Amino acid sequence: MTLKTKNIEILKKLFDQNKYQEVIQEVDKLKKEDIDHIDTLNLIAYAYARIGKLENSIDFFYRALEVNSENYTTLIGLGDTLQEIGKQIEALNFYEKAVEKYPDDDVANFSLAQGYRKIENLKKAAFYYGKTDRRLSTAFQLECIYLDKNSDKKEFDKIIDESRKEAPNPLVASISRHAAIKNSTYDNYNFCSEPFKFINKENLIQNNIIDDDLINDLMRDINDANTSQKAQALIINGLQTSGNLFLLNSSSVNKIKEIIEKKIKLYREEFSDSREGIIKYWPKNFDIYGWIITLKKGGELKPHIHKLGWISSSIYLKRPKRKGLNDGDLKFSFDGAEYPSNGVSFPEKIQEINKGDMIMFPSSIFHSTIPFSSDEERITLAFDVLPT
Ligand SMILES: [Fe+2]
Repeated sequence: MTLKTKNIEILKKLFDQNKYQEVIQEVDKLKKEDIDHIDTLNLIAYAYARIGKLENSIDFFYRALEVNSENYTTLIGLGDTLQEIGKQIEALNFYEKAVEKYPDDDVANFSLAQGYRKIENLKKAAFYYGKTDRRLSTAFQLECIYLDKNSDKKEFDKIIDESRKEAPNPLVASISRHAAIKNSTYDNYNFCSEPFKFINKENLIQNNIIDDDLINDLMRDINDANTSQKAQALIINGLQTSGNLFLLNSSSVNKIKEIIEKKIKLYREEFSDSREGIIKYWPKNFDIYGWIITLKKGGELKPHIHKLGWISSSIYLKRPKRKGLNDGDLKFSFDGAEYPSNGVSFPEKIQEINKGDMIMFPSSIFHSTIPFSSDEERITLAFDVLPT
């Protein structure tokens, strides 16, 4: 086995064990001339992307492109990372190349669909979602059709009917409920018929589960990790960390993760008698994917759902003092994402938020932050239970 092949084996093994920091540490030990194999470059680029260091990731993907401009892994990875930093047109260019070279590939078609969706070309996005069997592609196709004023209503109904035959998913549930309220019809998609009843709130500080020391350690560890912060179209006056927070291997992050794992179990148990799809089809395997959202004065998070999640949650690590009624609180709703509402009013629920609160809710509910005017920051740890 040559040295280069051996290096790739080592890096691949670490990568497959999700040890991304260690991949990077191993690479630091290599001589520059040994980092010229396409697999090595892709592994490093992906490792950087996974821990949220996107600029480094992009540098290595470009180096990989110089070695092979048609490599599938490079084209998709570079597209994904460019998309993450908001360079949508450049990302699209690499996805196009991938579909051109691998026209039947699920991931390439799905990524291209996502790319078109980002630039609001709904027709093309729906077309490419329709060409892939990837999980959630039907839900995303349905969403594009729902949003597209010129789309065929029959196509929409057909997809909803087909989806009912399969295990439910929160995005189809959200769209189906929205369309039912808008059209004053009955929603018979079985995910969670009364989602407001599935909102769970607990104060982790009052219940002695977390304290200020843990919050401060966590904030310090996240700052020390120097994770990229990304602007996000839904966030006004604020930032969101990139990558999965729970991949940071620090004791504070691990402590929080342990607490969250227990709470997810308890949430499921609390509703164990329910016949709703959210409980009945609870994912056998899932990951917990977390991130931090920091909002500053005037900060706001527009209504959205967590499309990839099953249940979602937010834990309030810092909460600005209220200056007006409900400022900085959380609003749940059945409307958002610029779905066509035709002037119909949708049910809402305002959830009061205090520091230390942990709110868990079905990923199918729209939620938003009510803007606040205090000078203090509002820091939230958000996470999704992601079916895998
Ligand atoms: Fe959210």
